[in-house]
Amino acid sequence: MRRGIPATAMLLAAACVRGGTGAGDNAAPPPPSGAVLAYAETALPADARLAAIYERSCRNCHSVRETGAPLTGDAPAWRARIEAKGLDGLVASARTGLNAMPPMGLCPDCTDEDFRALIEFMATEAK
Ligand code: HEC
Repeated sequence: MRRGIPATAMLLAAACVRGGTGAGDNAAPPPPSGAVLAYAETALPADARLAAIYERSCRNCHSVRETGAPLTGDAPAWRARIEAKGLDGLVASARTGLNAMPPMGLCPDCTDEDFRALIEFMATEAK
């Protein structure tokens, strides 16, 4: 009459083991590592003029994870955006703004060429 109880206990134990070992099939890009966060805080474009632009505009958000901006050096995050819209599409986003990013990314005198170079810099993998 009580044979059902051990069977239930076995099932529960099995369910726990399965839950504990599941590696997951989630294909979402991984969150930025500590190395990327550290790189984003310090990296600068090699070109001095671009570095000055980057420091006073893009870096204020693209080095701070909480802003929701793709981080400088977080190559997978940038790759996904480049694949979705192309580099020209990203330049257009910088010009018009996107959600929390203001138009021109706080660089009113930036040209499309500047944006292109800044995006390429930010999309380069952290080292
Ligand atoms: C005030 C904060 C802020 C500043 C300053 C800023 N960005 Fe952004 N940027 C963001 C945020 C937030 C996103 C993510 C927007 C989203 O996908 O919702 C973003 C996304 C982007 C994207 C991806 C757009 C897309 O279509 O996926 C590009 C390109 C970009 N920024 C370029 C720049 C450049 C270049 C500069 C400097 C000239 C800059 N940003 C300055 C906040 C900022």
